[in-house]
Amino acid sequence: MSVKRIAVLTSGGDAPGMNAAVRAVVRTAINRGLEVYGVYRGYNGLIHDDMVEMNLRSVSDIIHRGGTMLYTARSPEFHSEEGMQKAIANCRARGIDGVVVIGGDGTFRGAQDLTRRGLPCIGIPGTIDNDISCCEHTIGYDTALNTCMEMIDKLRDTAQSHDRYSVVEVMGRHAGYLALNVGIACGATSIIVPEIEFDFDRDIIGRIEATAKTHKKHFIIIVAEGVGGVLDIARDIEKRTGIESRATILGHVQRGGSPTLRDRVLASQMGNHAVRLLLEGKSNRVVTIQSDRILDYDIESALAMKKPFDRDLYEMAQEISI
Ligand code: F6P
Repeated sequence: MSVKRIAVLTSGGDAPGMNAAVRAVVRTAINRGLEVYGVYRGYNGLIHDDMVEMNLRSVSDIIHRGGTMLYTARSPEFHSEEGMQKAIANCRARGIDGVVVIGGDGTFRGAQDLTRRGLPCIGIPGTIDNDISCCEHTIGYDTALNTCMEMIDKLRDTAQSHDRYSVVEVMGRHAGYLALNVGIACGATSIIVPEIEFDFDRDIIGRIEATAKTHKKHFIIIVAEGVGGVLDIARDIEKRTGIESRATILGHVQRGGSPTLRDRVLASQMGNHAVRLLLEGKSNRVVTIQSDRILDYDIESALAMKKPFDRDLYEMAQEISI
């Protein structure tokens, strides 16, 4: 059966570049003769039939904007069989025969549930955490890295002026990719991530003491939110060293802002690829990028993959940021 009408939604935490992906889905679909609906607030919009038909101009003037014009949500209702059946019934009533979902692994599980119940879905990875195993770069990750870097550079100015230690928490959910890369880019003395066992004496005090011997007086310590506890860490550093320390939780500012060039291009490629897959009659696929090539994987196998943490990069950071 050929696809005639599709829908697109964004789900889970927003990520800069989601708009560019929505734009690419809508424009590709229309240019290839499909009708396309924009669904509001993730799976909630499917359940409550909250969607609107899009045209080429519906997605004008959004490629450079952060957030998502379709709004986003995490939908507990969708986890029930009743919620899923409502979503499917609404799609059937509108003649929607394919859905592109943009989000993280929770979003892909939803796509898998819908596909299993007869509604073909394609997933696009959009999350600042970069924690989708089959994908080297998720939409929003590059922007978040740059946002964090700019903010931490500013923290460095003030930490340096006061000879202080600055302990900074960055997002990433259970993953430390954001923390590791930002830590390298900002010259952090210690980078604490969930993937590597953390020892306060060895990983913080030991490194501060070694570096202080070379007359360095201010330090940046990056802590991934999956480890957390920055207030305690800053207090304990101050107690042990006698040097004033401040904790900063960067928080949701990391999820906002205009997407970088890289995220805009990636989102455009992925959105285009997702529609092509539906037109080829494919479903239950997640679009990815590996070694600069846009590829796709079966969602089930993609969710079962493990993304190795880059220990070499971590060791490199240990060696040069001291
Ligand atoms: O997945 C993106 C993310 O920003 C994580 O880094 C963070 O753990 C979580 O979402 C925060 O979620 P919320 O916006 O619901 O507070």
